[in-house]
Amino acid sequence: MCWKLPKNHPPVAATLWPQQGSPARLSPRLAAVADRIGQVPVFADIGTDHASLPIAMVWSGRAQRALACDLRAQPLALAKRQIISAGLTGKIEARLGSGLSVLEPGDVTVASACGMGGATMADMLEAASSRGLGVERLVLQPNKGVIRLRQRLAQMGWRVTHEAFVADGRHFYLILEAVRGEGEQGIRPNMRRDLLGPEGFHYPGPLLDAWIEAQLGWMEPRFEGLSKRPSPPDGELEVLGRQIACLRQALSTAG
Ligand SMILES: C[S@@+](CC[C@H](N)C(=O)[O-])C[C@H]1O[C@@H](n2cnc3c(N)ncnc32)[C@H](O)[C@@H]1O
Repeated sequence: MCWKLPKNHPPVAATLWPQQGSPARLSPRLAAVADRIGQVPVFADIGTDHASLPIAMVWSGRAQRALACDLRAQPLALAKRQIISAGLTGKIEARLGSGLSVLEPGDVTVASACGMGGATMADMLEAASSRGLGVERLVLQPNKGVIRLRQRLAQMGWRVTHEAFVADGRHFYLILEAVRGEGEQGIRPNMRRDLLGPEGFHYPGPLLDAWIEAQLGWMEPRFEGLSKRPSPPDGELEVLGRQIACLRQALSTAG
């Protein structure tokens, strides 16, 4: 799942990066992830599937090496074939396993995860939290579960340093960068930040409005359903009500 562009949004150019001749070319979604990763000696792409991101990064010289990692054998086999046909076997290593469990301490300081749910991303970070891997920076593109992902990143002490919506085809996506916070303590909860992203990244913005509408599209029916139950789950109705009010207010301020 991702989000539909508003009808009046100008058409999005299908710019592919890197230039023609590259064995893997990225559409705006993964190209924005590559831009955010930037110039690095090595990075790990978790949930790599076709391995287009590591191949484009290494082929273009933005990364000297990469780890292409996936939970399932079939996508990893595809990744291996792509890496071989790109002639990058010495520079991109394919690893099979869940999340960051495939990493050893000191392997990488930067990891990306794209095209999966925010809950899966948060689970894999939580599972690795005590392993001292040395991952300092994450570039994430969650397809859903964004609010919960922001909450859980903060609880685990990851500070979101950048967010951007990227239009690609008829949809748009969220790209989020987070860095390891100071110490092990979590970052204070903040409902507005968890709902709308860190201050200053999305305002004003038609894509933010479209994203809010999409959230309200599932939150309001859930709120209505819960409020009809004789005994709704503890606290959920109240939290949901406050979240809906905050999002509605953001919409009316933007308008
Ligand atoms: C939809 S694909 C996204 C591929 C690519 N990252 C992209 O954005 O185009 C999601 C991939 O994540 C992998 N995946 C799902 N859960 C995972 C986990 N816990 N650890 C590693 N990979 C996982 C799936 O096997 C699948 O190949």
